[in-house]
Amino acid sequence: MSALLEISGLCVSHARGTQRFLALEQVGFALEAGEVLAVVGESGSGKSTLLASIPRLFADPESRIEAGSIRLAGRELAGLPEDQLRALRGSSIGLVFQDAQAALNPVLRVGMQVTEGLSAHAADALALLARVGLPEPARAAAAYPHQLSGGMRQRALLALALARRPKLLLADEPTSALDPVLGREILALLCGAAEREGMGLVLVTHEIGLALRHAQRVAVMYAGRIVEIASAAELARQPRHPYSAALLAADPARTRRGERFAAIPGSAPAAGEHRSGCAFAPRCARARERCTRERPLLESGCACFFPLEVRP
Ligand SMILES: Nc1ncnc2c1ncn2[C@@H]1O[C@H](COP(=O)(O)OP(=O)(O)O)[C@@H](O)[C@H]1O
Ligand code: SF4
Ligand SMILES: [Mg+2]
Repeated sequence: MSALLEISGLCVSHARGTQRFLALEQVGFALEAGEVLAVVGESGSGKSTLLASIPRLFADPESRIEAGSIRLAGRELAGLPEDQLRALRGSSIGLVFQDAQAALNPVLRVGMQVTEGLSAHAADALALLARVGLPEPARAAAAYPHQLSGGMRQRALLALALARRPKLLLADEPTSALDPVLGREILALLCGAAEREGMGLVLVTHEIGLALRHAQRVAVMYAGRIVEIASAAELARQPRHPYSAALLAADPARTRRGERFAAIPGSAPAAGEHRSGCAFAPRCARARERCTRERPLLESGCACFFPLEVRP
């Protein structure tokens, strides 16, 4: 059986002035139905570009897919005409982004918006609103988006996305605008729904701790590439790529009290900055001569010439 989502060799460029640069290079992974894949990495690593490229909803119409394949349930999306892709958005592909205010229709009551999205088999809007943890679903359904708090709006957006029963749900930092406790609750809801409904979920977060807690697998991105992809359990136990190890060490949630927060030295390359060899080399304590000469490719889940040893 083929995977729900299969991406391979994906290269995406953004325009900057009259120039173009590759924001994604040779990105590939597969996602099964019911599986949660988290995508982590510092800001600017290409996480949002990756999510936007799947339904081809780029913020800038100049952005484009240069190469590669995106297959959803066996159907190729890269190169699919815009009208066919539009039909898939919201039906087969659900989207939950950070800004619920912008995603909800401001002049329609929340309940109406959820009902509009309901497929024939789904539960009714009130039940869905209750399921995403809205304490007073009837009141929320009757409200306009601006009458709800940020957390309530985010839950309503979630209900809206789930009402359409997408095969694939794409969530880009869906909780980063919320307080951490509420954020974790909503992530747990999302991941629970994915498992229950057999929906694939790609969850972007810049917090590796959240990724490890909620996802089955984690893809670590750096400078437009996946540098490591592993099960959450493996990654937590033994990261192999030096960048994954640095991200884990820099996660405040994993730093014990009294220990110093280990920020990653240096900074990620600027957009379009091109260098030969491994993009992480200038910040990598393990870098050797080969790293500045040759580019490591993602092989057996890790793109590094000198990965950290796997503990027996
Ligand atoms: N619409 C755009 N036009 C030009 N550059 C962009 C655009 N969107 C993102 N970028 C650049 O592409 C790179 C990847 O950005 P993004 O995918 O937003 O990363 P992330 O979500 O991981 O923070 C960054 O260098 C960013 O500045
Ligand atoms: S390839 Fe070299 S520079 Fe890059 S992460 Fe591995 S050891 Fe570090
Ligand atoms: Mg982003």
